[in-house]
Amino acid sequence: MPDSPILKSLEDGVLTLTISRPEALNALNRQVIDALAAAIEAAQNNAEVRVIVLTGAGEKAFVAGADIKEFADFNQSQGEDLARRGQRNLFDRIEQSRKPVVAAINGFALGGGLELAMAAHVRIASTNARMGLPEVSLGVIPGYGGTQRLAQIVGKGKAMEMVLTGGMIPADDALQCGLVNQVVEPELLLETAQILASKMAKNAPTSLAAALDSVLAGYSREGFEVEIERFGKCFTTDDFKEGTTAFLEKRKPNFPGS
Ligand code: CAA
Repeated sequence: MPDSPILKSLEDGVLTLTISRPEALNALNRQVIDALAAAIEAAQNNAEVRVIVLTGAGEKAFVAGADIKEFADFNQSQGEDLARRGQRNLFDRIEQSRKPVVAAINGFALGGGLELAMAAHVRIASTNARMGLPEVSLGVIPGYGGTQRLAQIVGKGKAMEMVLTGGMIPADDALQCGLVNQVVEPELLLETAQILASKMAKNAPTSLAAALDSVLAGYSREGFEVEIERFGKCFTTDDFKEGTTAFLEKRKPNFPGS
């Protein structure tokens, strides 16, 4: 297929999906979201696929977030729609996949990029990975489930710190707080993720699906709708205009606070 931003390779039951949009550090625009959602959906219906590994092309970034250029001039309903559509179409679909998804975080995983890794079931990071939810520094909030899944994974206190500072943490800190399961050298990352995926792939597919359902059943879904609504509201503020404009002009924002 010409020009797909998602590269696919299938070996011994492990499907590796690589997000490849290097000119924008693999940022999630509509095309990437749709192509990745389609690849995840196709994998559900392919009996040869037992486990999915998700990674980013290049050494610099897993995914540097939602595409800021794409939503900088959105209004409230477009903002809300972006979050709702992305969550339903891609992020929830990954989390609710009948086959385990392992994220191999090969560099920056920021905003929607970290949210993508958190929708996966297990995360492995390379030593050069840096992770964070910097949305508040753009005048917006995480909109792809980050406020919910980060708290689920690392606990409320650490999640609050990360969401409210918008700061990035290195791989070792991510390991320490449980955000990632393992940290390895960059050249071993994909192999390590694939070996872990192969271990899962040897198990009964019906048991894997049942286990995924059971673990996920313990987590509330209520907060996701609140996040979508609050994310949309951010698009009405002067802070949002200033934050996104400052990013595009490559300068620090000066937030008016309204
Ligand atoms: N959206 C669109 N383009 C992006 C991008 C993004 N999220 N991240 C990087 N890019 C683009 C840059 O604009 C730049 O393009 P140009 O060469 O055309 O200027 C290119 O990728 C390379 O990036 P930098 O020059 O900025 O590279 P750097 O090494 O100086 O910095 C970085 C790397 C720290 C990751 C920096 O790119 C950055 O801060 N990116 C934005 C991270 C971010 O804020 N993510 C959250 C997005 S909002 C979100 O995700 C909302 C949501 O939850 C739904």
